[in-house]
Amino acid sequence: MPKSFYITTPIYYVNASPHIGHAYTTIVADVLARYHRMIGENTFFVTGTDEHGDKIAEASQKAGVTPQEYADKISAQFRNLWPELAVTNDYFIRTTDSNHIETVRYILQKVYDSGDIYFGSYEGFYCVGCERFYMEKELVNGKCPDHKTEPEHRKESNYFFRMSKYQDWLIGHIKENPDFIRPERYRNEVLAFLREPLEDLCISRPKSRLRWGITLPFDQDYVTYVWFDALVNYISAIGWPDDQKSFKKWWTDTGGAVQYCGKDNLRQQSAMWQAMLMAVGLTPSKAIIINGFVTGEGGVKMSKSLGNTVNPIDVVKEYGTDAFRYFVTKELHPFEDSPFTAEKFKEAYNAGLANGLGNLTSRIMKMAEDNVEPLNKGTIEQFAALKEPGFFEAVESFNLQKAMNVIWEKIAILDQKIQKEKPFALVKTDKEKGQVLILELVQSLNEVAVMLSPFLPETSEKILKCIRENKMPEKPLFLRK
Ligand code: MSP
Repeated sequence: MPKSFYITTPIYYVNASPHIGHAYTTIVADVLARYHRMIGENTFFVTGTDEHGDKIAEASQKAGVTPQEYADKISAQFRNLWPELAVTNDYFIRTTDSNHIETVRYILQKVYDSGDIYFGSYEGFYCVGCERFYMEKELVNGKCPDHKTEPEHRKESNYFFRMSKYQDWLIGHIKENPDFIRPERYRNEVLAFLREPLEDLCISRPKSRLRWGITLPFDQDYVTYVWFDALVNYISAIGWPDDQKSFKKWWTDTGGAVQYCGKDNLRQQSAMWQAMLMAVGLTPSKAIIINGFVTGEGGVKMSKSLGNTVNPIDVVKEYGTDAFRYFVTKELHPFEDSPFTAEKFKEAYNAGLANGLGNLTSRIMKMAEDNVEPLNKGTIEQFAALKEPGFFEAVESFNLQKAMNVIWEKIAILDQKIQKEKPFALVKTDKEKGQVLILELVQSLNEVAVMLSPFLPETSEKILKCIRENKMPEKPLFLRK
């Protein structure tokens, strides 16, 4: 039986249009999904939108439409963006989908019945941007460290999830499973956070203040806290609880979801969600993989709330989908913050793609077209035959930048080889030797194209086609800008 693999992105808030930060996480997850399909695993890849809560209610009010209308519009922008970026999600979930809503209500009732949800009162500082309460000591000069805005002071009676009950289990689970939260520094961050007593979590909002949410099954006057609703998507997307066959296939048999997310989701995905799963008697997620932030000018996180975003479609229009995928996987640090600027993008594009990969492909294929018979290669099936342990190891450890560096080191070596051994001249003085050399180069280019397939699918296919037809590209793969 082939192995199976379940991978997810965060589901994105629909308060404003998608930007590069979302595209980054989604592309990284897509590369992993494509890679796992290529090594022959059954793969399920889910992304989607998170549509309830204060943030969306406020945004829709500003826009003068109903929350549902607003959510429909922005959710469609996310859904339509992904094909433009060659993202191959198998499913797109919306938290306004009826099956998701039913699953959330089912879980709430189950946890309520088991005694892990109770009624109490709460007072604290709430950041609408983050959709969470902050402790006073977490604020910086009285402001949210992420959104730089003053949180609202709120006091209300609400329902609470007994998260504290799962603290010891969580610490044990994280300690026993060093690969559960990656990279290690985020694992340490969660463990440090869990050294303090874990507070129970407020999981409701009174309808007197917020109507846009899932009504609690045991109290009509309240809606569900947006995170308690959103995290459930990881199992509602695979049919839990009704479709046990699908759940077994994608959760039990895979060991759970590999959940990609930015560091702003760290606590919710690695602590809160795991406690929720425990509370309903399910096994934890397989892994939480944390990416850093894409920053704009001045190193500030790119975010809709801060209004310093770049629209991925604008970049794609100018440079193409694969150029965008190249930049986010090769030039952005896999786990730490890194900047996205127009200059950096152009520089990387010219160096790595126009002068690098594109030029190399033209040079090798021109020599092949003029001097040798087709190699009878140019297919993707050779993935398993690749002898590039460094590449596989890098992808398996979620370090896509390292994997891309393996590919570009190979490109540099091939450039040097052409420079040094001059096959175009050699073939004139010693035809046979020159031909052997050219065929070796074509073979290596084929390997480059195969490794590139999950990262730059369109370019990979173009190169493989040139190899199959033994022709140089009709026009350069990447025009210099
Ligand atoms: N709706 C929640 C997630 C719920 S998951 C059950 C949420 N949504 S969000 O729209 O704010 O998107 C957050 C995710 O988008 C981050 O975790 C990250 O993956 C991605 N990014 C958003 N801005 C980003 C950057 N500037 N840089 C990198 N990733 C960013 O949180």
